[in-house]
Amino acid sequence: MSKISLGIESTAHTFGIGVVEDKKILADEKSFYKPPLGQGMLPRKVFEFHSENAANILKNALIKANISLKDIDVVSFSQGPGLPNCLTLGAFIARYISIKYKKPLVGVNHPVAHLEIGKLLTDCKDPVTVYCSGGNTQIIAYESGRYRVFGETLDIPIGNAFDVLARSLGLEMPGGPVIEKIAKKGKWVDLPYIVKGMDFSFSGIVTECQRLAKRGVKIEDIAYSFQESCFSMLIEAAERALAHTEKKEILVTGGVAANQRLNEMLEIMCKERDAKLFSVPLKYSGDNGVMIAYTGLLMSNAKCFTRIEDSFIKKDWRIDEVDVKWM
Ligand code: ATP
Ligand code: FE2
Repeated sequence: MSKISLGIESTAHTFGIGVVEDKKILADEKSFYKPPLGQGMLPRKVFEFHSENAANILKNALIKANISLKDIDVVSFSQGPGLPNCLTLGAFIARYISIKYKKPLVGVNHPVAHLEIGKLLTDCKDPVTVYCSGGNTQIIAYESGRYRVFGETLDIPIGNAFDVLARSLGLEMPGGPVIEKIAKKGKWVDLPYIVKGMDFSFSGIVTECQRLAKRGVKIEDIAYSFQESCFSMLIEAAERALAHTEKKEILVTGGVAANQRLNEMLEIMCKERDAKLFSVPLKYSGDNGVMIAYTGLLMSNAKCFTRIEDSFIKKDWRIDEVDVKWM
């Protein structure tokens, strides 16, 4: 019999509710908090925004899916990592639905959900994942019961590096798409390349780019070299993970996966290693409720439920702390 899962995403700037029926997506409703120009994301403001929108998003998701809350089989929510107050809001709504409608509850790890929805939508089976977003940069692969982190950033995430650089160059936010566009006209200038073992670091490169900009180096050359350097580092680590695990698939996800140059470079590496590249469709590579609903469903099929008393949020929950019992 088919099963319906409702998923709540509320780790950071996105509040989303997704509904899936087995592998079919019935609803994907969300809203994004965008800070006023020049301001960062104040957790209090994000929380206020989500609090105001949550009920409407839920209502719209149910209408789109053409169901009511009593029709769902499982209620899933992002349990971490993320902003504590936003996570708490999602967990609260999930607990309410679980108790009031007597539905089993599943607390989902947010990065795990990025991977699972990526596998579903690209049809890859057992990839090395390059997870590169505004808040995360990790090379991940499944081994002996868990998603293991083979390499990760030692300081800031790559998407954040794009944004910090863009802001200091006076460019529009988010920085990724703008830097990608400008980079097309640039040529190479020397930049640091920092890979330690299978980990990498981006903040030194950003600092050097800012220094070059002050010295009058052309912005397009900085953008081009920044991309080349950062992506090469990421791909070196991904290639080592492929070699180590002997896997034959690369899955790229997160907001930075939208970058064409990154995909081009990954494609070249995959060809050389006789591996295949899978890129998560843009609509589902960023945060959304569908990925939580789908992962919650996989987990519930493997009887991985969360008791109310264990449903507290986990703001620093790492992907490699999760026992993957549904594979
Ligand atoms: P997380 O998933 O870790 O919570 P997030 O939700 O902040 O992070 P995403 O929405 O997945 O991140 O991605 C946003 C990031 O992707 C931004 O930092 C943005 O600059 C970057 N980005 C978007 N498009 C591109 C692009 N074409 N090239 C490079 N970076 C990009
Ligand atoms: Fe995310």
